Amino acid sequence: MIDLTGRKALVTGAGRGIGRAIAVALARAGADVAVNDIREDLAVSTAAVVTAVGRASIACAADVSRLTQVEAMFDLVKQRWDRLDIMVNNAGVNTKSSLLTLSEKDWDYVLGVNLKGVFFCTQAAAKIMVEQRYGRIISVASVSAKSHLPMAAHYCASKAGIVGFNREAARELGAYGITVNAVCPGLTETELSQEVRADPEFMLRRLGETPLGRIAKPEDIAGLAVFLASDAASHITGQAFNVDGGAVMY
Ligand SMILES: NC(=O)c1ccc[n+]([C@@H]2O[C@H](COP(=O)([O-])OP(=O)(O)OC[C@H]3O[C@@H](n4cnc5c(N)ncnc54)[C@H](O)[C@@H]3O)[C@@H](O)[C@H]2O)c1
Repeated sequence: MIDLTGRKALVTGAGRGIGRAIAVALARAGADVAVNDIREDLAVSTAAVVTAVGRASIACAADVSRLTQVEAMFDLVKQRWDRLDIMVNNAGVNTKSSLLTLSEKDWDYVLGVNLKGVFFCTQAAAKIMVEQRYGRIISVASVSAKSHLPMAAHYCASKAGIVGFNREAARELGAYGITVNAVCPGLTETELSQEVRADPEFMLRRLGETPLGRIAKPEDIAGLAVFLASDAASHITGQAFNVDGGAVMY
């Protein structure tokens, strides 16, 4: 049984989907959880669940791709709590486009949230964690970092970028007792994947390639995040773990 009692966590994009499942799972394991989302109503809703589990929570509405908003969010967390033990970079977006028509706007939007947001939040969290000489940084990438996703070269680039960024972050931060790892979900039942899941041909192919024969639920991803946040994972850093029913095996 993993015990995170007394730990303070911040989860981005936690208003729904995978982030919400991670925030709730961390709270169930004993952590107090600050809940970020670009949508305040969603952040408040997940924060209420954390509180209902019996843990402290802070709802932080902020766009992780905007530095001033990220700074304000960390100021709020620091004001309320004297430490931050667990940073989960989960906020992520996608737009559908073939490479030949992919616009600069879509590239900047997806890379801005998925990769620049991870940079901003990792750097801000690391500054606190270096001082306390302890920390767990977990970023939600994707198996698209290692494989591919139709009509989403920009998304694949952003997720592969997280994995590369993490390797050097893990090297620089290791001396301070901070681990940096990525969770790479396969197709997961959330609003983000609704459109691809509605394509029966794609689903047939995907399930055929998946040894466990089903796609993930958000809770499947949360299980690994909670493990990586725990002391049981204290000697693991710079890694990117797939949670995809075995569809991608490297
Ligand atoms: N669903 C999948 O199949 C799947 C697969 C692999 C990886 N992922 C990754 O998992 C993470 C969570 O995705 P999900 O499926 O739960 O998506 P989702 O769309 O259900 O939830 C994402 C949340 O992030 C919030 N958000 C969006 N932009 C934001 C921003 N700029 N700042 C702060 N919050 C923002 C949204 O409001 C939403 O609440 C993402 O990084 C995604 O790329 C998802």
